[in-house]
Amino acid sequence: MKTIIHTILFAVVLVLFVSCDTVEPIEGTVNNEYREKYRPQIHFSAKRNWINDPNGLVYFDGEYHLFYQHNPLGAEWGNMSWGHAISTDLMHWKQLNVALMPDHLGDIFSGCAVIDKNNTAGFGKDAMVAIYTSAGKVQSQSIAYSTDKGRTFTKYSANPVLANPGIADFRDPKVFWHNESNQWIMSLATNQTITFYGSSNLKSWTRLSEFGNGIGSHGGVWECPDLFPLSTENGKKWVLLVSNSGAPNGGTGTQYFIGKFDGTYFTAEDAPYPLWLDYGKDNYAGVTWDNIPENDGRRLHIGWMNNWQYANNIPVFNIAPKGARGSMTLVRELKLEMHPEGYFLLKNKVVSEIESIANDWKTIVDEAFTSKTVALNLNNKKAYQLQLIGKTSDSETLSLKLSNSKNEFCSITIDARKLIFKRSDSGIVNFANAFSDHSESPVFGITNPVKLDIYVDQSSVEIFVNDGAASLTNLVFPSSLYDVLTVESNNSHVNTKFRTFNSIWE
Ligand code: FRU
Repeated sequence: MKTIIHTILFAVVLVLFVSCDTVEPIEGTVNNEYREKYRPQIHFSAKRNWINDPNGLVYFDGEYHLFYQHNPLGAEWGNMSWGHAISTDLMHWKQLNVALMPDHLGDIFSGCAVIDKNNTAGFGKDAMVAIYTSAGKVQSQSIAYSTDKGRTFTKYSANPVLANPGIADFRDPKVFWHNESNQWIMSLATNQTITFYGSSNLKSWTRLSEFGNGIGSHGGVWECPDLFPLSTENGKKWVLLVSNSGAPNGGTGTQYFIGKFDGTYFTAEDAPYPLWLDYGKDNYAGVTWDNIPENDGRRLHIGWMNNWQYANNIPVFNIAPKGARGSMTLVRELKLEMHPEGYFLLKNKVVSEIESIANDWKTIVDEAFTSKTVALNLNNKKAYQLQLIGKTSDSETLSLKLSNSKNEFCSITIDARKLIFKRSDSGIVNFANAFSDHSESPVFGITNPVKLDIYVDQSSVEIFVNDGAASLTNLVFPSSLYDVLTVESNNSHVNTKFRTFNSIWE
């Protein structure tokens, strides 16, 4: 009874809140929404309130769905629900109504969505089925379905479909159809391992196997797994993503394993684990889209651009009276490439759809020098990309500084071994000690020439080395966009191009 009252109260508060929101004009007027200080201009963020993990990533009928962990009532973590946005091009997002709200089984934690093409669950052919964690007194897995392209969901009446077997951290189901074994496979985070379950109908699940003891990073609970195949020059390989604390630069990050999956067991190949998808501080809980059409065939990934070390304290995008807190990374394509030392490296690169918002390239430096400072002509745009091609070696370093007129800056230094990103003077940093930490990434021996692609938005810098052999995603909160670039080299030739992006909210 208490839980039913809780659910009704939550729904009433939400309805009141959302309706107040639409009648009371907010400061800055509706036209200024998505234009506020710090508001990402080329990344998804919710109109207002808190977001964390991407959930329910699925493509269906021309639309990419991005559900996400959302507090519809405030800018801190709580009241966990699934927010919802859709896109037809992975760049421009349209926010829809909240898709799933807490109920008598608890909050709605992270999970996934699949398209049930053969109606295995009996909710209808091509039903969109969300599989998520019900987080109440214990964590269990539940499902809900939609037959109107994800616009409304009905929770299954016999939830949960996978009860808690006595494991405290039992969450974040990610499901796909495995043709070879003719069943749905669920990867589930279970304390500090991943447990795999199988099902013929999404409603009853059998435990298959467990992976993770004694391998990889165990700096904290394992969360948000994702298991998927990628093709390589050595045939098909399986990748297992696992988010957890113990990230190389502090706090939370996403590690990966490469190996085989036979319908029951995942086995990892030898590699120098832990390996990390992104060595910046702010790419967490990322997973990939299901049901991408075969003629596209890409494995598309998006992460939450934040770190649990300080997630609840980062500045809000400044809408009064309530802020919006949190954003997603750019969408990236994942690929496997053989590392010179004989293991597969998971590369991630911004999707080609970025071209649709890009303005023309301009070459701003193309010569040998020791130090050069260039003003970036932003032309009123609030996001841009820099591409540098240069040379590094054991004795040669390439350094870059991005700064603004307030003398706020971040810096990037790369040599033959590592890339270092510093943000201790990048703008507002004092909301958490750990925010000032620098981040460091191996460059995996591929540095001559070295190509850096750097995407700068109002509150983030995403760096890709040699088409994503290494990537670093970091938040920054400068009082105005960095518009001055300083490059230092050992008098070697550096080619630097620059282009602005149109806002995705235009
Ligand atoms: C990861 C996570 C998940 C959980 C969700 C709750 O960031 O902790 O494990 O489902 O966030 O919001």
